[in-house]
Amino acid sequence: MPLRIGISTGGGDAPGLNAVIRAIVKYGVGQYHWQVVGIEDAFDGLLESPRRLQTLDLRSCKGILTLGGTILGTSNRGDPFAYPDPDGKVTDRSAELVSAIRDEGLEGLISIGGDGTQKIALRLMRDHDIPVVGVPKTIDNDLSATDVTFGFMSAVQAASDALDRLHTTAEAHDRVMILEVMGRDAGWIALQSGIAGGADCILIPEIPYDVNRLVDKIERRRSLRRYFTIIVVAEGAVPAGGEAGASPGPSPSRRLGGGRAGVAVAEALTERLHTDDIRVTVLGHLQRGGTPIAFDRVLATRLGVGAVDLAQEGRWGEIICLHHDRIVGLPIEEAVAVYRTVDPDGELVRAARAVGIEFGG
Ligand code: F6P
Repeated sequence: MPLRIGISTGGGDAPGLNAVIRAIVKYGVGQYHWQVVGIEDAFDGLLESPRRLQTLDLRSCKGILTLGGTILGTSNRGDPFAYPDPDGKVTDRSAELVSAIRDEGLEGLISIGGDGTQKIALRLMRDHDIPVVGVPKTIDNDLSATDVTFGFMSAVQAASDALDRLHTTAEAHDRVMILEVMGRDAGWIALQSGIAGGADCILIPEIPYDVNRLVDKIERRRSLRRYFTIIVVAEGAVPAGGEAGASPGPSPSRRLGGGRAGVAVAEALTERLHTDDIRVTVLGHLQRGGTPIAFDRVLATRLGVGAVDLAQEGRWGEIICLHHDRIVGLPIEEAVAVYRTVDPDGELVRAARAVGIEFGG
């Protein structure tokens, strides 16, 4: 009997989500005659009345390969085990969700999301026997089980395009230009875009920075008649002996970015260089929106196809990953066990240092 499967996209969006949905539908419906039900806005579509669900057939996937965002919508607030009420209280609505899943006749779920979403998937499986297959997603690239997450390279491309633009204006005005990028507590986007965009300094959470080292770098450049400097700052960058600039409160309400990290660096430099000619650009959600680059479309398609294979083979509880350039299923708990950060002594940082990039530490 063909399966009836629910798909949801949870957490912050990432370029390539629609390419995964498309691959699941094309392969699952086209090859195995699945019925595929899209759940809107993570699991909210099953928790609300009336329910918000979409029947996904071959027609509904036309033209979505290149689209950013997700046709299903997403949410990073709808944890069914700790669901925020409008009055600020948190309620466990998992039993409601489970009965909606059963009521809709869903025999399994494909949950596309980052570590938060996969932890929810794991609990649905462990506590309520809901069969789940995971697909990892995040622009932050901080999931340990997979070599790289789709959406990450598109974010890196957006950030390195921004750096190309900043270079010309920085050089024209002899300015220090700071670009703050996303990535939560991992420096992957900053590191890769900084290398690709020819940054002079890269500040990442994994290497606490001493602002005096940035001052030295800027002055060394000036002595070589390079009067501008480009600094990439990860939103989670930490000054030595200090903390990342974040909104108060525990995760997930703890929020990084919005200029906090970039402005902190600008203020520290302004004080030491006695200049106010330092500018901060916050790339923000521009690095998350828009069309996935070709690499992410291919990876997303491979993962979507792999997820169908896992479900078809009854390998529930596994997440489909890119591992040493092969698509493999791994236990979801392994995928969420370790938060993957940049190795400060790893080859990538070493290569960056070798071409003269200053990390501030
Ligand atoms: O996890 C993806 C991410 O874009 C982070 O890099 C960033 O800190 C966060 O989400 C921003 O979340 P929001 O879209 O809720 O502002």
